[in-house]
Amino acid sequence: MKLLVANWKSNPASLGEAVLLARKIDRGFRKTKKVGVIIAPPFPFLYEISRIIKNSELGAQDVFWEDLGPYTGEISWHQLKQASVSYVIIGHSERRRWVGETDEMINKKVLASLKAGLKAILCVGEPLEVRRNGLRAAKSYVKDQLKRDLKGVSSVIGYKPPFIAAYEPIWAIGTGRPDKPEEAAEMSRHIKTLLASSYSLNPRVLYGGSVTSENVKNFLQYKEIDGALVGGASIRSEEFKKIVNITSKL
Ligand code: PGA
Repeated sequence: MKLLVANWKSNPASLGEAVLLARKIDRGFRKTKKVGVIIAPPFPFLYEISRIIKNSELGAQDVFWEDLGPYTGEISWHQLKQASVSYVIIGHSERRRWVGETDEMINKKVLASLKAGLKAILCVGEPLEVRRNGLRAAKSYVKDQLKRDLKGVSSVIGYKPPFIAAYEPIWAIGTGRPDKPEEAAEMSRHIKTLLASSYSLNPRVLYGGSVTSENVKNFLQYKEIDGALVGGASIRSEEFKKIVNITSKL
């Protein structure tokens, strides 16, 4: 099964629009074994959307690592579970960039999510200055990132896969300049090999970065790429429906 994650980021402005968009996406496909859709709206819309979706699952765009307590402004896994969230995006490059999230923080979020039984979608990917030095340099960057972000994962008691990684080269996000599909596939293989050998994880690896209905097939035709993390194209219901439709036929 290929997974499609609709990462709405900080969109849309109102609850009304969010519910409408979620309904259009959710009713736009039939549940099959070929494709799974995860809608990841901003926090304030989670609960309402959880009440109306039938075919999709719900994801959050972040989670805090501590339990309940004096952490003003943070959202704990308890609250996410209350809203029927089953997936959580962790370490998106926009959070690393705009909110200064470090690998140490991301690592704590991954561990907390796994302990809580949330399916973590860990985002990794290199900046342009690294990729300019070639795919090998990018692979080494991603390897270091994974090592820091997954510290201690093997010791999470009772934790069993599924674990999801999203390869999102930073320079491809929101730029209309996606990675070359064959290179994204090679990176997925690299991530799978690393996670299997170092953490006994058998992850699913998604690609993210300027995915559209025009190019989704080029990525998802590779068996190494288990799905896509879709940003801009996921807030246009017709476009996202096309992506789901194309994926369900692969
Ligand atoms: P994009 O975003 O599809 O707009 O490039 C992807 C992401 O940031 O998850």
